[in-house]
Formats: sequence, C-alpha cells, structure tokens
Amino acid sequence: MTRTILVTGGAGFIGSAFVRLMLETQADVRIVNLDLMTYAATRSSIVADGDRYRLVEGSINDRELLAELLADVDPDWVVHFAAESHVDRSIEGPEAFVMTNVVGTFRLLDETLKWWRERDATQRERFRFLHVSTDEVYGSLGPTGYFTEETCYAPNSPYSASKASSDHFVRAYHHTYGLPVVTTNCSNNYGPYQFPEKLIPLVTLNAIEGKELPVYGTGSNIRDWLYVVDHCRAILSVLVGGVPGEVYNVGGESERTNLQVVETICDIVDELCGALAEGISRRSLIRFVTDRPGHDQRYAIDCTKLKEQIGWSPMVRFEEGLRTTIEWYLANSAWIAEARENNYAGQRLGLQR
Ligand code: NAD
Ligand code: DAU
Repeated sequence: MTRTILVTGGAGFIGSAFVRLMLETQADVRIVNLDLMTYAATRSSIVADGDRYRLVEGSINDRELLAELLADVDPDWVVHFAAESHVDRSIEGPEAFVMTNVVGTFRLLDETLKWWRERDATQRERFRFLHVSTDEVYGSLGPTGYFTEETCYAPNSPYSASKASSDHFVRAYHHTYGLPVVTTNCSNNYGPYQFPEKLIPLVTLNAIEGKELPVYGTGSNIRDWLYVVDHCRAILSVLVGGVPGEVYNVGGESERTNLQVVETICDIVDELCGALAEGISRRSLIRFVTDRPGHDQRYAIDCTKLKEQIGWSPMVRFEEGLRTTIEWYLANSAWIAEARENNYAGQRLGLQR
C-alpha cells in the first residue's frame, strides 16, 4: 500500500536517518519533509529523487503553511522530529526552545487536528501522529534503576522542560480531541550525520584532527547509547503497531560513562589513523573541563514495553556502531564542511547566559 509521510525536521540527524531508512526499505513510501533548515540541518544528508521525496523549507510555527501542506500532502502519517535539540544551547538561549519545541509542536498538533477532523472515517482511523521525544523528560537517575513509561516527569534543563511540555500537549490532543498520537521517548542517539556539537561527533572530529577532547566534570555521567538506525526502526514499528495514546520508551541497552565513550573513540581513531606520535595515544588529548550547569548524572531506559508489545530490540552493539560512525566521519569530509559552514566551529557552549 502506498503511504505518504509528512516528516518535520527531516534534514536533521535523526529525521534524515528516518527518511533514508524509509526510502531505502519501503518501496511504496513517499515523503514530504518540512524543515526550517536551521544551523542543525544539512542538505546533503538526503539524496533522493523528486518523485518520492520533497523538501519544503518552512517552520512548524507557520500555521498557514501547515494548513496548506496538510491539505496538499494528505499524509497517512505525520512524524514529528523538528526541534531545537541541544541541551547546551538551551542553557544559553532557552527562548528558541520554547518557540520551536512548545509553540511549534502545539501549532503542528492544532493544524493537524483541524485537517484530520475533515477526513473520512477510514482515513481518520488509519492516521498516526508520531511525536519523537526524549528520555530527558524523566530527569536524572542515581546509580540504579531505569526510566519506564510510568516514571514521573522531572525535566532539569530548559531543553528537557520544553520537550516535556510538548509531550503533555501531544497527550492532551489525544485525550481531549481523540487525535491518534503515539509518543516515543528515546535515549542518546549516535551515528553518521550527527551535527558536531554533540559529544560523539565533536570528540570524533577533534580526535581525528589532534585537538583537545573536552569532558565535562569528571566524565562519570552516564548515557544509554542508541544507534540511530535502531531508533528509526523503532519509530517505524511504533507507527505500524503502536496503540494511539500510548507512549513507548526506546533505549540502546548500552550504558557508558562519558569518559568510557571518549576513551573508546580515542582507541578506535588511533587504530584507524595511527597514534598521534610514537607511543602517544589520543587519550592524551582528554581535558576535564567545567561541568555543564545542572548536568543530569545518569539516563537509562527500560524498553521492555516496546520489546514485548511491538517486538522491537536494539540490534547494534555500541562498540560496533561507534566504529561504523567514526569510519563514516573519516570518509565524509564534504558533509563535515557543510555542517561546519553552519556557524559552529567546535567552541564550548552552555556555560553562561
Ligand atoms: P537535530 O538538531 O539534528 O535536527 C533538528 C531538525 O529540526 C533540523 O533539521 C532543523 O532545521 C529542524 N527544525 C528546527 N526548528 C524547526 C522549525 N521551527 N520548523 C521546522 N523544522 C525545524 O535534532 P535530532 O538530534 O535529529 O533530534 C530529532 C528529534 O529527536 C528532536 O525532537 C529531539 O528532541 C529528539 N531526540 C533526539 C535525541 C538525540 O540523541 N539526538 C534523543 C532523544 C530525542
Ligand atoms: O538523552 C537524550 C538526549 O541526548 C536528547 O534528547 C538530546 O537532544 C541530545 O542532544 C542528547 O542530550 P545530551 O546532553 O545527553 O547529549 P550531548 O551529546 O550534548 O552530551 C552527552 C554527554 O556528554 C553529556 O553528559 C554531556 C557530555 N559532554 C558533552 C559535550 C558536547 C561532554 O562531556 N563534553 C562535550 O563536549
């Protein structure tokens, strides 16, 4: 069956991985990507023919554009990735996070609801609005325990507060108006095409270039790393098998301290590129720097619900996915140049307002 998907934020890291996965594996899918092309977007992340893929440059805050696009595209699914996504930037400038993540998600929901109400019963039944969210809404864990779908919300950064708010609006549009929404809350993604402000691509590029590797605080904070393609497979399986109104946690079952992640990157880059000098590993480039304000200690996802109810599991082991990612950065200097043109030169973000 031919399906049309309206994706938002499809020129960013995870959205573009989802678009590529759909175009490569789902022969009958057509995708329209609404993306504002902010600093985090890269055009060359998607190479596709015009019949199956179309980029529309514009904002989820633009109600008129949303109404026109929904009427024109007539989507089977809306998959909502668009967001301001970087915690450090939210510390420096929270307002953009409120405008995009809260107000933008609200307007997208509201215009989608108006459009959905005018469809016939079959189309209304088949339609899904999938909201891509984060485990950061649950706050920070101590040394034990996991986030489940029942964990209370306790967002700590302006970024996670904005995502928590958007999650609540998505929930409310189902509960109050019956819009068939599903929400996924996932852990830290990594993989090719990630903008080099985030830990793994930043450290990878610095390690390749022999620059210092900044580790916040003591490097003991823990993240649960999820390979981006595993995440996109989870999104597809929730679109197909998820129950409207439900929330599904997606995790990589790969907890590592930040220091372990950085050391592993150093070892892989040493192996692929040779040591910095005779007997000198890139581990010597590690620098412990001032901690992130309000830095969450540990995130870890319990994804039993997704495994048992939908049949999804993460497939890529962390060290294997990390090697693939580093090899991709080594082979894709044109993409890196495009990302860097977007006004970011690797400087420290998020210390001050
Ligand atoms: P990203 O920053 O790489 O990409 C965001 C995309 O959204 C960009 O292409 C940008 O141009 C677009 N965008 C921003 N504002 C827009 C607007 N007003 N209208 C239309 N497009 C707009 O983000 P990402 O890492 O790919 O994250 C995608 C989604 O997944 C986000 O909602 C994020 O909160 C969530 N998430 C990310 C991670 C992660 O580890 N990266 C983990 C959990 C959840
Ligand atoms: O958990 C999901 C979240 O993961 C997503 O919702 C966010 O969109 C995504 O950006 C990510 O947030 P984090 O803050 O965990 O990711 P980041 O890559 O910025 O940082 C990962 C960890 O590494 C974090 O503990 C801070 C630390 N760090 C980060 C940078 C950029 C460093 O030690 N040094 C650095 O230079």
